Amino acid sequence: MTRQEAMQKASELLGKMTTEEKVAQMIQVPYTIVGREEALHWASLGAGSFLHVLGDNARELQQTALKTRLGIPVIFGIDAIHGHGLNPHATIFPSQLTAACSWEPEILREMGEVTAREVATDGLHWTFSPVLCLGRDTRWGRVDETFGEDPMLAGELGAAIVKGYQGENLADDEHILACAKHYLGYGEAVGARDACDTEVTERKIREVFLPPFAKVVEAGCATIMTAYGSIDGLPLTINRRIMHDILRDELGFNGFVVTDWDNARSLVTRQHVKETIEDAAVSAALAGNDMIMTSLEFYSAMLNALASGQADISVVDKAVLHILTIKYEMGLFDQPEKKGRKDCIGCREHQDAALRAARASITLLKNDGMLPLGPSVKTVAVIGPNADDIQAQYGDWTYFSHPNASKHLTPERPYVTLREGLAALGIKKNVRILYAKGCAQLNDPSDDLDAAVEIARQADAIIYAVGDMIDQIGESKDRANLALSGRQDELFHRLSALSKPICTVLIASKPLCIEPEAAGSNAVICAFNGGMFGGQAIAEALFGDLNPAGHLPISFPRHSGQVPVYYNYLPGWHNGKYCDLPETPLFAFGEGLSYTSFRLSDLTVDMVGRTASVAIENTGNYAGSTVIQLYQRDVVSSILTPVKRLIHFSRVTIEPGQTQTVRFELSDADFALVNTRCEHVVEPGEFQILAGLSSKDEDLLTISVRID
Ligand code: BGC
Repeated sequence: MTRQEAMQKASELLGKMTTEEKVAQMIQVPYTIVGREEALHWASLGAGSFLHVLGDNARELQQTALKTRLGIPVIFGIDAIHGHGLNPHATIFPSQLTAACSWEPEILREMGEVTAREVATDGLHWTFSPVLCLGRDTRWGRVDETFGEDPMLAGELGAAIVKGYQGENLADDEHILACAKHYLGYGEAVGARDACDTEVTERKIREVFLPPFAKVVEAGCATIMTAYGSIDGLPLTINRRIMHDILRDELGFNGFVVTDWDNARSLVTRQHVKETIEDAAVSAALAGNDMIMTSLEFYSAMLNALASGQADISVVDKAVLHILTIKYEMGLFDQPEKKGRKDCIGCREHQDAALRAARASITLLKNDGMLPLGPSVKTVAVIGPNADDIQAQYGDWTYFSHPNASKHLTPERPYVTLREGLAALGIKKNVRILYAKGCAQLNDPSDDLDAAVEIARQADAIIYAVGDMIDQIGESKDRANLALSGRQDELFHRLSALSKPICTVLIASKPLCIEPEAAGSNAVICAFNGGMFGGQAIAEALFGDLNPAGHLPISFPRHSGQVPVYYNYLPGWHNGKYCDLPETPLFAFGEGLSYTSFRLSDLTVDMVGRTASVAIENTGNYAGSTVIQLYQRDVVSSILTPVKRLIHFSRVTIEPGQTQTVRFELSDADFALVNTRCEHVVEPGEFQILAGLSSKDEDLLTISVRID
């Protein structure tokens, strides 16, 4: 059904609804909080949606909803963030940040498609994904959920995963609704304190934080989630300019908006901008929130406000129309339960997709020739807290990290930790694999550094797997200190004192401060949270069965005090340098090595034909993939513009000795800035176009062009 036809049907149905039925449509009930009995009560009242409910429990609610006077089907939402992770049998993909290391929209599209199929097979309709907040202040606990620090990359990858979730037709059995979140500026809260105030101007919003949302709205994203926080003191929940004027009137969004968890009530209880829940309910609805997640008091509060004349029914009508339109467009009235595909949850084909994503995300950051491990390496010691810890490898948003699940659960097989991946390949290659944990991510009485050093002493090469753990990731887990926690640095120093080749592998939710490890290791691999086959992909890279091709979507700070550090900063007097630290990050945005080598040449820009092209040659001995990045620098502008800004990228695969020419189409948007009047304009003058395999100046070819 087209959006137009769906709107028509929705408005006919709206005409038949009582006030109570309308307000109930706006309610989203948290199943795990209220439990079965209360959930059934809400279903009989005609609640529009439930979240966090699976299988037969969901079916029972749907049946109850269908038996109400108008039989309006319920829509079920779930946090399927990197796979349908709250189902223990599901396929677990790398986290968003990890998958972003691939710089490959097709990987994200496939991740969305597989996840949608598994969610739909559980009878559900909607995932609260993707996150389009930017990971600029890496102290924030939810950096793992972002696509990294760059608006353009986040927009492209976000649009790709949205297309994967939603497919061509929302009504088909294997696709679900996407939900771009958290709108807006949530990741940029002061001090990276989760859900606190964000001190940005509207101009900055338009330059940095809005573009990824604009991109997914253009791609047809059906729903948007309101952020928890506030911008310049005004909670997003009641910010009509951002939630309505910019989102609907400017970006043309025509789906529905859902609040985040308890946003409406928090206006009273946490943010203290409303005295009563009635005031909060009316303001949230007026600002443009259509569905109210978990603030169940909204129901009676809105009914009171309507009865007393504090609110007009038109505000409710608008919201319900948005919700019903999507329900019609999804075909829910013909078929309330998605069927999905029988036996597809965690099936082989889906596992293959997770493995492809994990492989594409492996990012090699340093290599003095230690890797790939050569034939002289007969014994490998794999050491460290994250070498054999599947929970750390999965990261946030899988069933055992969910607040309602037990941390002590072990996920279902198959999954492969780094230790297991190395063991499996070791058998094939006749290499002995030894293991010792050494220490935990946090100080623990069972830490045994001596034992780990003894194991390492027996090996020809050491693989040291460091990182964080579930308790250090996610909402309200912001970190003031990004150094490796517990005794991980101490263990590194003891291992490196053995003077054996050592490769540090970062299995973590985000960039941690690993300067000592980076300086003292022969090789460094960034694997972040690689999902079910993360360990296998790392092992393949270590042995050279996989040629790494990931590139960082986020900068690595040298020290917690350097944060925030991102490549597209505005020029200042001292280049952002501290007197006790180099101004550069430890590893830069866009960085990523390969076992082969590449040479870029012949950067040309044709301003008439609006194209840029660059040649890339594989000058090494292995076939390999890499990411060509095109940046722009506005040489003189009326307002500060970033020292460089990513405008295009392309992941290419090249055989040894071969050369490819990569072409990019240029558009006005590539040269535009947001001026002091908040307009997107191209200012005439000189621009530089830069092309390279990282954002570092020394890696970039540069050409000047003029726009008159
Ligand atoms: C998070 C959202 C999530 C929602 C539902 C909130 O706490 O901020 O990202 O989708 O809970 O679980």
